[in-house]
Amino acid sequence: MEMLSLVSTLVQMSPTCQVQQRLLPFLRLKILGIGQSNATAANWVARNVIAHVPATNITAIAVGSEVLTSLPNAAPVLVSALKFIQAALVAANLDQQIKVSTPHSSSVILDSFPPSQAFFNKTWDPVMVPLLNFLQSTGSYLMLNVYPYYDYMQSNGVVPLDYALFRPLPPNKEAIDSNTLLHYTNVFDAIVDAAYFAMSYLKFTNIPILVTESGWPSKGDSSEPDATVDNANTYNSNLIRHVLNNSGTPKQPGIAVSTYIYELYNEDLKSGPVSENNWGLFYASGAQVYTLHLTNSGTVFANDTTNQTFCVAKSNADSKMLQAALDWACGPGKVDCSPLLQGQSCYEPNSVASHATYAINSYYQQMAKSAGTCDFKGVASITTTNPSHGSCIFSGSGGKNVTSVNGTALAPSTNSTNSGCLSQYYNGGFFTSTVILTLILSVVVL
Ligand SMILES: *[C@@H]1O[C@H](CO)[C@@H](O)[C@H](O)[C@H]1NC(C)=O
Ligand SMILES: *[C@@H]1O[C@H](CO)[C@@H](O)[C@H](O)[C@H]1NC(C)=O
Ligand SMILES: *[C@@H]1O[C@H](CO)[C@@H](O)[C@H](O)[C@H]1NC(C)=O
Ligand SMILES: *[C@@H]1O[C@H](CO)[C@@H](O)[C@H](O)[C@H]1NC(C)=O
Ligand SMILES: *[C@@H]1O[C@H](CO)[C@@H](O)[C@H](O)[C@H]1NC(C)=O
Ligand SMILES: *[C@@H]1O[C@H](CO)[C@@H](O)[C@H](O)[C@H]1NC(C)=O
Ligand SMILES: *[C@@H]1O[C@H](CO)[C@@H](O)[C@H](O)[C@H]1NC(C)=O
Ligand SMILES: *[C@@H]1O[C@H](CO)[C@@H](O)[C@H](O)[C@H]1NC(C)=O
Ligand SMILES: *[C@@H]1O[C@H](CO)[C@@H](O)[C@H](O)[C@H]1NC(C)=O
Repeated sequence: MEMLSLVSTLVQMSPTCQVQQRLLPFLRLKILGIGQSNATAANWVARNVIAHVPATNITAIAVGSEVLTSLPNAAPVLVSALKFIQAALVAANLDQQIKVSTPHSSSVILDSFPPSQAFFNKTWDPVMVPLLNFLQSTGSYLMLNVYPYYDYMQSNGVVPLDYALFRPLPPNKEAIDSNTLLHYTNVFDAIVDAAYFAMSYLKFTNIPILVTESGWPSKGDSSEPDATVDNANTYNSNLIRHVLNNSGTPKQPGIAVSTYIYELYNEDLKSGPVSENNWGLFYASGAQVYTLHLTNSGTVFANDTTNQTFCVAKSNADSKMLQAALDWACGPGKVDCSPLLQGQSCYEPNSVASHATYAINSYYQQMAKSAGTCDFKGVASITTTNPSHGSCIFSGSGGKNVTSVNGTALAPSTNSTNSGCLSQYYNGGFFTSTVILTLILSVVVL
């Protein structure tokens, strides 16, 4: 993350639920430079995109962040910046897999309740109309940052906390759009629908929405009493459940709205209210701020790495039995035992017990630690001590591997930036970018 700036690259966004963090220094320079020169844009794409695909699955580039509201001077070159980036992607034949867009603050949408009456602040129509044309013609999406926290805070009590936190509401408290008769059970859906309606007001009806930021702060100052760990956990847990349920919004039921959680780490050096430093799921140190309540969300959310377990050979195990376990795991068990070959990362120490431990642990992790998969006729047992050593990283240790659940990579790794929203990465703190997230890079990411 050195670069960062203002163009963000979202890697693998599709799965829906991701975590991001942004770094914004120099944003203005970059955006202005890219928006004024196709060569600068092409150079940026060469260094930050082309150089990293296909090893990194980059699926979108977010140009700037809330440019209209936070950097209005750059607004006149915003659409040019998108077009230049797009042209460079076309030249590299990457435009089908990588979409270009720019995240907006939801404050560009006015009169957002009832959603059916919403429209974009007309001041920005000269930018918004060409932008929507660009998004439509390139098959991209409208990127939107959605913060029910601020709607709640600014409503002076009109917006109930439960409505902002996706908690069930009594029927008489549900919000009903009197024009469409659609029922809204949470602020998030209402904001997303307001954006759909604002686009249709300008006659754009087929541009999908991608929520590039959403979250809730875990701590605030005395004027922010609802910035609490409990509310942050409730919001983010319910958001993840809501998004992964793929139920869409009342206006567009069934159309999933992929969402990035803001944010992975607290940005402890930010200025402003206390809440500004406390949006993260993790402290800057890597320790978690809270553990999401995802236990009822199915296997995707099994929090089995919060307390990691590994399957190892018992110390007194018979070596013939261990050899048999090793052979079985690497054969019928379908474990990739290539790291055990001479010269590879897990060859040393070259003993049956060590090799068997690697193989049976891999099998155990591969079977999602299900009951009975760490036995091997009694020679194996479960431990919480990570057996990784040197460059030999054991699966399940959050080291270098990525776990995949139906196509969604979850994983936990080191030095990264963003990560998936699954509990697998609650293993202490660091992730990799596979899935997660992110990158916003280089601009990005997080
Ligand atoms: C890249 O990510 C997109 C969206 O998640 C997915 O559809 C695509 O299959 C991925 N491509 C590769 C090569 O993994
Ligand atoms: C920039 O635009 C000019 C004029 O349209 C074109 O000739 C040139 O090839 C473009 N350069 C790049 C790097 O795309
Ligand atoms: C619309 O945007 C302009 C420019 O940022 C701003 O001055 C104005 O207050 C906005 N209108 C509303 C109603 O928020
Ligand atoms: C999940 O979606 C179904 C229908 O798509 C809906 O009935 C249900 O209420 C949703 N559950 C949650 C937790 O949003
Ligand atoms: C994964 O896919 C299988 C089969 O397609 C399905 O039965 C299962 O529910 C999916 N699991 C998750 C967590 O989506
Ligand atoms: C998930 O976390 C809960 C509470 O922290 C715990 O009771 C449960 O055993 C954990 N599940 C797994 C699979 O570790
Ligand atoms: C992990 O282990 C610690 C200490 O044994 C325990 O306090 C905590 O509740 C466990 N967490 C989960 C999610 O099981
Ligand atoms: C990483 O995951 C892949 C795919 O599941 C597996 O084949 C490989 O053995 C794993 N590597 C490690 C070091 O666990
Ligand atoms: C993580 O970052 C540290 C310090 O920058 C570096 O020494 C280490 O090699 C990195 N690890 C990986 C897996 O990239």
